[in-house]
Amino acid sequence: MKHALLISSLPLLTSAALAQATWNQDVAVVVYEHCGKCHHYGGIAPFSLITYSEASSYAEDMLDAILHDEMPPWGADPNYTHFLGENVLSAEDLAAITDWVENGAPEGTGSAPAPPMFSDGFQLADPDEIIDIPYYQVSLDEDEYRTFVIPSTSATDRYIGALEVEPGNTAIVHHVLFWYDPTNASQEADEATPEPGFASNGAMMSSEDAVLIGAWVPGSGMVEFPQNLGMKVPGNSDWVVEVHYAPGSLGQTAPLNIRVRFKEGDFIREVWNDPWLYHFPPSLQEGLLIIPANTTPTFHEESEAAPIDLSVISLFPHMHLLGQTFWVYALTEAADTIRMINVNHYDFHWQYNYTFPTLLKLPQGSVVYGEAMFDNTINNEHNPNDPPELVTLGEGTEDEMMLCFFTYTYYLPGDENMSLSTGTAEVTQASAALHVWPNPGNRLVHIALPGQPAASFVPAFVDATGRSVSPPWWLQNGILSVDVSSLGAGCYAMTAVSGTTALTARFMRE
Ligand code: HEC
Repeated sequence: MKHALLISSLPLLTSAALAQATWNQDVAVVVYEHCGKCHHYGGIAPFSLITYSEASSYAEDMLDAILHDEMPPWGADPNYTHFLGENVLSAEDLAAITDWVENGAPEGTGSAPAPPMFSDGFQLADPDEIIDIPYYQVSLDEDEYRTFVIPSTSATDRYIGALEVEPGNTAIVHHVLFWYDPTNASQEADEATPEPGFASNGAMMSSEDAVLIGAWVPGSGMVEFPQNLGMKVPGNSDWVVEVHYAPGSLGQTAPLNIRVRFKEGDFIREVWNDPWLYHFPPSLQEGLLIIPANTTPTFHEESEAAPIDLSVISLFPHMHLLGQTFWVYALTEAADTIRMINVNHYDFHWQYNYTFPTLLKLPQGSVVYGEAMFDNTINNEHNPNDPPELVTLGEGTEDEMMLCFFTYTYYLPGDENMSLSTGTAEVTQASAALHVWPNPGNRLVHIALPGQPAASFVPAFVDATGRSVSPPWWLQNGILSVDVSSLGAGCYAMTAVSGTTALTARFMRE
């Protein structure tokens, strides 16, 4: 009796989920959206899942990879914070795939919706510079990390506005890290051996002064800083590119290049990249990163307090093969929590530079905290040692690290609304302490900076599409005067900056 009741009530409760899922009706769209970007002909994954015959022959493996959190590759918990490019299956998507696989992967009636067009070409069509890495034949049959140094082509400082890594051969390139080095250290490391580049370990580190600019993993597209944001590259710096070649690439080549577009304009808002959390004191609270065999320890890190209000663009957590989770958050002086990221499935082979959808404000005085768990037992399938051995801080892949890099700039009012997704920068800065008159205006506009000596300020304008414009301006009687007659009609964000102080107002050109 009980049994009959259960059976008859089930369809009422979950009728939608229980209707048998088919490829044509339910599963194809999920696979197109969450897997197709990599699993199509010519894509970076080793096989395509776009047609019914392809997907159905991998059905069991698909479910297996999904249930083990291997696919789609994405380490950050979507219930904690969101990032651009997030690729996570919803409960409905998972139910559809599970049901489909468990029922023998039926095709269903009719036909599947047409798959989207997948483009494997580059997006950054008008680069100012294309950085080619030298010709190199992979020399190891296991994981190989190789760092290439490409001399600078510019003696003056420049600001990167957009960049894109073209991996050249996605069958063998697993990931790429991209740095600039203002010193000669990387160049010297390269010149120490006759072959192009030098052997490294998954986090370059040949120069203490090198600054991480970007990272590429399969699936990442171009990176673009909106509005007048730009990452400064000092004149005469070398480009440093570390490539991770996957096992089984011996003798092959990848003609990799990096496309860079620089920001033009009188006023560029500088973007910085620093490891606020790092694996030794004073950041590491435990003092030393020591992971005994057969343990699963947790370590804690703290940053310095933010010296001014900051806006965070992206963050890049980095550990090696024992790293399992990396949770990062901040506490303001008022003890409010600011969520940053909870990497609950860290995977050394899928290291992302996680970009927030909009700039994240970190108020002055806030401290960033990191908490990471490592698994040095045989339960960790990536453990390089069997049986497990003592692992400590070091540069080899089989040593460990606990770093988190932050890409950020100084805060301006309205940053919380500035979208970081490519091409959709919006101007939403609210009016602040700047006095602008007449506003709206069409010819001479004056700007006063209450309580500030105007002489130390530089004005900057950004139009509604995020482009910086530079109308002529001059200083007179303690106020800035700007001739806006050359500007098109519309709304502008007007900023006056001196050192780390910035004041903003919204200005309407009639
Ligand atoms: C960002 C690119 C990317 C996405 C998105 C992606 N895959 Fe993969 N997949 C790969 C690559 C690359 C491999 C090869 C193994 C590796 O490098 O990890 C792979 C391997 C696999 C494998 C082989 C077994 C394994 O775990 O290595 C299966 C099965 C698989 N993917 C299924 C899927 C399914 C199902 C989805 C969507 C729900 C998906 N993948 C989404 C890139 C991707």
